[in-house]
Amino acid sequence: MSGTAAPPVIRTLFSEQAIAARITELSDEIAASEPNRLFVVAILKGSFVFAADLMRGLHRAGLAPEIEFMTLSSYHEETVSSGAVKILHDVESDVTGRAVLIIDDILESGRTLAFARDLLAGRGAQSVELCVLLDKPARREAEVSADYIGFECPDEFVVGYGMDLAHGYRQLPFIGVLEQA
Ligand code: IMP
Ligand code: MG
Repeated sequence: MSGTAAPPVIRTLFSEQAIAARITELSDEIAASEPNRLFVVAILKGSFVFAADLMRGLHRAGLAPEIEFMTLSSYHEETVSSGAVKILHDVESDVTGRAVLIIDDILESGRTLAFARDLLAGRGAQSVELCVLLDKPARREAEVSADYIGFECPDEFVVGYGMDLAHGYRQLPFIGVLEQA
């Protein structure tokens, strides 16, 4: 069709099957740590698909976690150096004395997760661990590393499985890279 842009081609990086298998392994690892009254905090929006699958993996691994959500906005697009993180939606429950597991889609600069970790630790959690589906270590700026990592991700912009480009592609059941058609 003349005058219409060709649809983007998406190269699969991590398939549905690979993600599902890795989530089973992560769930077993988390269960083996025997967390005390596990309280999962999922960072919206990017983690919502991963959170839903990991929660069911944790159930199959014998745990009964609670989950709440936190929406954080970071300003790394705005200024080079601010690095500020703002809380748009906070968890409601008291985390005092509980094993907190923060989950997110991608650990990149690390600013978002460093902020969330320090915030929840400061509220008296017994422990705060981080679980990310993808780690992009090449991009790290904050002092943070994840306790549980799904996959190490090449330094490319990925979409799908909850992750977006300008609010699109979150619905893809796999993780891919947009290529020029
Ligand atoms: P940071 O670690 O504070 O830089 O924040 C990482 C966040 O940036 C992730 O939770 C994603 O929401 C977003 N992000 C980073 N890399 C990508 C990508 O390749 N695709 C989609 N979102 C990304
Ligand atoms: Mg995010």
